Amino acid sequence: MTDQKRHFGEFKLIAGNANLPLAIKIAKELGLSLENSKVGRFPDGEVKVDLDCVVRGTDVFIIQPICQSHYSPLGRPCLTAERGAPTGRMKEICTYQSINDNLVELLVMIDAARRASAGRITAVVPYMAYAKQEKKKKGHEPITAKLVANLITTAGADRLLTVDLHTPAIEGFFDIPVDHMRMALLMGAHFRDKLGLRDAVVVSPDAGGVARATEFRNHLKAHLAHDIAGDEMAIAIKRRTPEDEPTIMEMVGDVAGRPAVIFDDIIQSGGTLLEVVKLLKARGATAVHAAVVHADLTPGAAEAVAQSPLESLVLSDTTASAKEVAGGKIKILSTARILAHAIWRVHTQQSVGWIFDTLGDKGKLPKFKR
Ligand code: R5P
Repeated sequence: MTDQKRHFGEFKLIAGNANLPLAIKIAKELGLSLENSKVGRFPDGEVKVDLDCVVRGTDVFIIQPICQSHYSPLGRPCLTAERGAPTGRMKEICTYQSINDNLVELLVMIDAARRASAGRITAVVPYMAYAKQEKKKKGHEPITAKLVANLITTAGADRLLTVDLHTPAIEGFFDIPVDHMRMALLMGAHFRDKLGLRDAVVVSPDAGGVARATEFRNHLKAHLAHDIAGDEMAIAIKRRTPEDEPTIMEMVGDVAGRPAVIFDDIIQSGGTLLEVVKLLKARGATAVHAAVVHADLTPGAAEAVAQSPLESLVLSDTTASAKEVAGGKIKILSTARILAHAIWRVHTQQSVGWIFDTLGDKGKLPKFKR
């Protein structure tokens, strides 16, 4: 440890039930184990936390994406038995864990760490849900991205480490430092080096995603001659019906006779992605691939992707759903190494920008070494 300054003697990794495989992978990258904290439920469903480790004065990292999980490791008695159902029904085990469950687990874990005198608490939230409501589109609507930022801060987090916020402006909703990792670098390098798709046209599925897709394109086409690297992108113009179904109205850009790669931050129903695939095929794209950072999938989405003409879909593992649907045309790129390096760099007061520089230069990060 030459130029590293530790302001907190030790660091501890604590995880809830949102995405344990990712938390374990991050710990493994760091050569550590997760603390043996217990995050469960009281019989009425309230979140019950026992950190079960000494955090006084330490640098605590709480790993908990605000995602849903259809197969949570928590598995708890199902409280949804119909009125009048035999009591035995109450013993059914529920494994579905909602975004709201995972949000409250995060807040309660932060509260426990604060009350146990943690020196510093970093909320590691690889997927930040509620982020799509980041502004009022009409009167009488909430701004849930700000509400969630307030909840995390009020619970006691001193910092946030996150991945691909729906819009970077959400960083400003937090009055604590935010380290914002972006998957465009790793995913762009994957399409460039592993899939050899440098000549593809990059497609943003909506106007709001253009900056994100531009960064992805810059990495996909890094080191190429200007006439190819300077390609314009294609941008779809999306509207949503009052029922929230996406409709692609138009597309700017030429894709005829070339492969296309769509880059988006979130897939939920798959509606947006598959509408864009349809239009790209109609406009003459030779093959359509996609990369999406967060898989917050609703039932039926993976099947719809499987049956579509999409050739391949790359997701990250920020959510539990990603792992649940991996296989076939769906491949997962892990965020674990990026997050492990970021945690260590936050802990030792080193530049987090090094992660972006290294990914930009080499397309991958070295194995973590202390
Ligand atoms: C929207 O602004 C997002 O970037 C995604 O395009 C959207 O969340 C995808 O949702 P769905 O898969 O339900 O169309």
